[in-house]
Amino acid sequence: MTDDPLPFTHRLHPGYGHALPRSWQSEADLAPRHLVYPLFIADDPSACEDIKAMPGQSRWGEDRLEEALHDVVAAGLRSVLVFGVPNGHKDARASAADDERNPVIRALPRLRELYPDLYLIADVCLCAYTDHGHCCLFREDGSMDNQAGIHRIAEIASAYARAGAHMAAPSDMTDGRVGAIKSALAETGFESVPVMSYAAKFASCFYGPFRDAAHSAPAFGDRRAYQLPPTARRLALRAMDRDLDEGADVIMIKPAGPYLDLVREARERCDVPVAAYQVSGEYAMLYHAAAAGAFELREAVLEAAGGIRRAGADVIISYFTPQILHWLA
Ligand code: PBG
Ligand code: ZN
Repeated sequence: MTDDPLPFTHRLHPGYGHALPRSWQSEADLAPRHLVYPLFIADDPSACEDIKAMPGQSRWGEDRLEEALHDVVAAGLRSVLVFGVPNGHKDARASAADDERNPVIRALPRLRELYPDLYLIADVCLCAYTDHGHCCLFREDGSMDNQAGIHRIAEIASAYARAGAHMAAPSDMTDGRVGAIKSALAETGFESVPVMSYAAKFASCFYGPFRDAAHSAPAFGDRRAYQLPPTARRLALRAMDRDLDEGADVIMIKPAGPYLDLVREARERCDVPVAAYQVSGEYAMLYHAAAAGAFELREAVLEAAGGIRRAGADVIISYFTPQILHWLA
């Protein structure tokens, strides 16, 4: 007889009082294979430029890739997501996105050679290369020319595949680009290159530091006509369905932390791997909060990453990848 009013089924503590049964309660592990590290490639081959808005991150030139990645690969890095950061020519049709001086096109073969086992994902977008800084193309009258834009994006994706990308990741959020890329890859002999679509990409203030890193801020207006409204759950589900219908091999939710409900829904809705992008602003928040003494960086980053895994992500794209690999080791 006990005067404890709690029924036994409400007594949870015994089930996780000891470290071993506590570990049995954990449903999501975090391993090197889950992590993708975003890498910024500058056009200056010898560059190593600090990115002010993202302390600890740099833009690297193609001649310094080994310096950029040696320790991270040694710690278990499996994959990078490559972004080009051009300083030179920008025009209305993003010509510099796939010319022979493009930093991504130059870096991909070098990465293949340096690290044959590293999985190379190429971000594909127009915004870093257009004079207007948008992820689409425009007609003379200023309206968005979706068809011309996805045709251009498909050409660029093929060029990155030819240069050595294992996977293409379109981040523009215009309609139809996954299908257009798939067709272009098939026509150019790269049908085995899969597509990771930024499927539910929200119009987020958390991209602020990235736009400084990649010199890709829009010259006018904002991206709300193609990125999703932050509270639009149903529209996000339709965007995922659209990309899956067009043949996306992996779908991504972005940002991660404020949108974990959609990571969970994506995981339950479809049968492709789900990726979540912990974006530049999430990186900056954790970094600066830890620097201000709010918490230990390591604990906060591992908790955030564990939460993304628990929500259902198979892949986490994170600027903290080097540290996480180090902590896991
Ligand atoms: C551009 C692009 C952005 C990010 C990835 N690709 C910025 C944007 O859409 O404005 C954001 C990544 C980050 O914030 O870490 N297509
Ligand atoms: Zn873009």
